[in-house]
Amino acid sequence: MTLDIVILAAGQGTRMRSTKPKVLHPLAGRPMIQHVLDAAKQLDPAQVQMVVGHGREQVETALAGQAVHFIQQTEQLGTGHAVAQAAPALSDDSVVLILYGDVPLIQPQTLQRLLATVDATHLGLLTVTLDDATGYGRIVRTPEGAVSAIVEHKDASEAQRQIGEINTGILALSSTHLRHFLPQMSNDNAQGEYYLTDIIAWAVNQGFTVNTVNPEAPYEVEGVNNRQQLAQLERVFQQQQAEQLMAQGVTLMDPDRIDIRGQLICEPDVVIDVGCVFEGKVVIESGAHIGPYCMVRDSYIAGNTHLDAYSHLQGAKTQGHNQVGPFARLRPGAVLASEAKVGNFVEVKQSHIGAGAKVNHLTYLGDAEVGAHANIGAGTITCNYDGVNKSRTVVGESAFIGSNTSLVAPVTIGDRATVGAGSTITKDVEDDALAVARGRQMQKMGWPRPQKRTDAQER
Ligand code: UD1
Ligand code: MG
Repeated sequence: MTLDIVILAAGQGTRMRSTKPKVLHPLAGRPMIQHVLDAAKQLDPAQVQMVVGHGREQVETALAGQAVHFIQQTEQLGTGHAVAQAAPALSDDSVVLILYGDVPLIQPQTLQRLLATVDATHLGLLTVTLDDATGYGRIVRTPEGAVSAIVEHKDASEAQRQIGEINTGILALSSTHLRHFLPQMSNDNAQGEYYLTDIIAWAVNQGFTVNTVNPEAPYEVEGVNNRQQLAQLERVFQQQQAEQLMAQGVTLMDPDRIDIRGQLICEPDVVIDVGCVFEGKVVIESGAHIGPYCMVRDSYIAGNTHLDAYSHLQGAKTQGHNQVGPFARLRPGAVLASEAKVGNFVEVKQSHIGAGAKVNHLTYLGDAEVGAHANIGAGTITCNYDGVNKSRTVVGESAFIGSNTSLVAPVTIGDRATVGAGSTITKDVEDDALAVARGRQMQKMGWPRPQKRTDAQER
């Protein structure tokens, strides 16, 4: 049987107190709805239908280009009404899995176990037992233990409210059953809503059996209604990622103080100190050491690179045995060949730093090519932008640029050339030459210092 997935995501999420639709609030850097969609895709469904309402356009834009069909629910009249909007799009004889857009940590393995319980005469329901079940739909069972109904909290009797087993909202059933049930649904209940949960009592009356499955962990079925709950699930997710990294041989100085908002791929024997944030796709090779409070986005850190505290990398690549930071900033297109060093308060953008070259302090290199073993003195600036165009600076192998030099691009400094400190270099410098471009120092012997004027002179 084919699998059709329906994701309910039309609700407003008032308690987030946000202009952004609830399901677009990020968890680990991705909208929570993206987590749900990714879990759905792993089940290889024939189609994914997403019921959207509040913030519909924003949700559709955020998920543009993905294999999902949007169905508009203009008024949120209940979960049953929401599913009814998707019903015409469902295939005949498919298994339909209902997911919630605000339950982001649901695991595909759990859903697979749920789907395995569904056939022509069985529905699958994901339930969990809570210490405090207030607010949730309760699972009502017969004395023999068979599920007979779901009763919403607001409709439940005192006795039913004592039940700890709750409906997570996630269920799976055949499209045929669903289609038979939907026209019979009513909103005659405490909330005046069309409850999808009424399908359970109906199915049992029709002779179907409800199989229940529990998630591996309760967080899988926790919904997000406010920012506190979102923050809690964020911590759960980060802890899991931290555990995976440690299992793969990464040392985390404190697994509670790392944030991965994307994909962090590490070889064994990487060490990551506290407070680091990783975004996008980051790869770190064996032997690399990431110092405290680094921010690394979409970068490649080769083996035995030492990233010192407070460094900021985006779109950067190191090629091995590099020393970076503290307080270094590597921007997109920064490439450090092996053993190149970039020290404190150095910004590198769209530049290649040759093997063993040193850029140790207070420098800006933009659109530059620095030869192997060159030494860029403190305070060197490439003047790469004239306000309109960017130009390149080339520094030859083993060249030495004195401190506080401005290299006005386009300009080339030859191999083994030397530039005197404080120079403003506007013309190319030949190989092996010395270039000095600054005011000549002069000296006046016995120069009398200015004297303080007297009151009489002031008048
Ligand atoms: C629902 C279940 C309840 C379960 C609980 C788990 C029903 C009637 N009740 O209650 O048994 O314990 O979830 O959290 O199903 N939605 C729409 N359109 C609507 C209404 C809801 O898309 O018209 C979406 C919401 O955005 C949300 C999900 O469906 O993602 C659940 O809706 P919500 O209003 O939170 O249902 P609950 O009252 O919490
Ligand atoms: Mg809810």
